[in-house]
Amino acid sequence: MPLRKKDLEGKTINCADYSLIDFQDLDSDDLFEIADYFWEYVADGIRKEYMVYGQPMMTGPKTEFEVFDHNTNSVRTFLNFCSYNYLGYSFHPEVMETVKATIDKFGTGAVSAPLLSGFSYPVKILEEEIARLKGKEAAIVFATGYGTNIGILSALLHPGDVAVLDILSHASIYDGVRLGGADIRVFAHNNPKHLEKTLKGLEGRRTIVCIEGVYSMDGDLSNLPELVPICKQYGAKILVDEAHASLIFGDKGGGVAEHFGLEDEVDIAIGTFSKSFGAIGGFAAGEQKLMTYLRMYSNSYVFSCAMAPHTAAGILKVLELFGKDKSERDQLWENTHYMHAQLKAAGLDIADTKSQVVPVMAGSDPRLREISRRIQAKGLYTGVVAYPAVSKNKTRLRLSVSSKHTKEQMDRAVAILQEVFSETEDWDPASA
Ligand SMILES: Cc1ncc(COP(=O)(O)O)c(C=O)c1O
Repeated sequence: MPLRKKDLEGKTINCADYSLIDFQDLDSDDLFEIADYFWEYVADGIRKEYMVYGQPMMTGPKTEFEVFDHNTNSVRTFLNFCSYNYLGYSFHPEVMETVKATIDKFGTGAVSAPLLSGFSYPVKILEEEIARLKGKEAAIVFATGYGTNIGILSALLHPGDVAVLDILSHASIYDGVRLGGADIRVFAHNNPKHLEKTLKGLEGRRTIVCIEGVYSMDGDLSNLPELVPICKQYGAKILVDEAHASLIFGDKGGGVAEHFGLEDEVDIAIGTFSKSFGAIGGFAAGEQKLMTYLRMYSNSYVFSCAMAPHTAAGILKVLELFGKDKSERDQLWENTHYMHAQLKAAGLDIADTKSQVVPVMAGSDPRLREISRRIQAKGLYTGVVAYPAVSKNKTRLRLSVSSKHTKEQMDRAVAILQEVFSETEDWDPASA
C-alpha cells in the first residue's frame, strides 16, 4: 500500500517507525515527491548512526579491510565478515598476475556486446570450462549474476506460463519472471508437500520450478532429493541457482546438485562469479540447443556489454587452481564448522545454516539497526539484512565465512556479536 501524504505531512519522520518497503510508493501527483520523505527517513537514520549501507571500501575485501565509516567520518579498519570472498581467490597472486597479463593484451574491457565484437577468447574458453564444471553440454557467460536470471527467465517465460519459486528465491529470479510476464506461484521454503500441492493445480500449463543450491540469506541447502522427483512427476522444468554453492559443494565444485548426485536432473544450472570465484559475472548451463536459443533471446545478454576478457581469464585461473588443489575449500569448511560451533556456544541463533553463509537472527528492524550500529562501532563488518529482504521479524546479520579468516579473527567476531546481542536483548527502540 502506498504511503499516504496525509499521514506524513507536518510530522517528523522517525526511522524506527518505518522500513524500506514503506517508501516504495506515495499517493502523490508528483513522481519524485516520495524522495523528499525518504530523504527525511535516511537523515534520521544517519543522525542515529544507522546508515551502515554504502560505505566505501578503502582497501580490498580481505578478512580485515579499511572502510570509510559514515558515522565517524573517518577511515577505520574492520574485521570483514561481509564479502563473498569465500576462498580468497580475488587476492590469489596467480589470479592477479593472470588478470594483469590479460589486461596487457586485451585492455580494460570488452567494449561491445557479446554477439558483436565483445565475445573474447577467454570468455569462450570460460563457457567451455563452466559447461564441464556443471556437467552440461554448453554454457553462456553473462556480465552479472543478476543479469543471468533476468535474461534467462524473461527469454523463456511469457504470459500464460508459470514459474513456481521457493519463497526465499533471490530478487533476480522474481524480477526475471515478472519481466517475462509469467505468473508467479511460491511454495513454502524447501517444502515438498507444498510444492506438490502447487504443481497439482497447474497441470496443463508450461511450468518451471526455481530453486537455489544454498539459500543466500539463510545458508541452508535446497532439499533437491525430495523436490526434484516432484518436478519430474508433474513435467515441470527445473532451474537451480548455485550462486553461493559453486566451488563449495560437490566433488568437482559444481554445487549442491552435484553434491546430491542430481546434476543431470537440472535443466538450467545458474551461477555467479561474484562469490567463490572472487570476480564478477554469471552463467547459465544446459543443453546445447537451449543455450543457443537463450543466447539470442536473453536481452540482458544481447543488449549489454560482454564480460571483460581479464575477468574471464582470472576466473579460468581460479578454475585451474581449484582443479589442482582443494585445500582452500577444506580450510573453508574447517572455518565454517568452527564459526557455527562458536556462535551456537555463544547463545546466538544461526537458524538452519549448513554452509559458509551464516545468518545471526536479530528479530525486528529497529533492533537490527541498533545491533548494526554497535557492531560497527566495535569494528565488525557483516551483512545487515533488513525487511523486506527477509520477513518482518526475521531480520539478521549475515556473516560470510572465508577460508582466509584466522581463528583469532573468528573468535574476535564472535565475542563482539555475543556482547552486542546480549546488550540489546531488552533494548527499547523508543530510547534511540
Ligand atoms: C542466489 C543468487 N542469485 C543471483 C545473484 C546475483 O548475482 P551477482 O551479485 O553476481 O549479480 C545473487 C547475489 O547475491 C544470489 O545470491
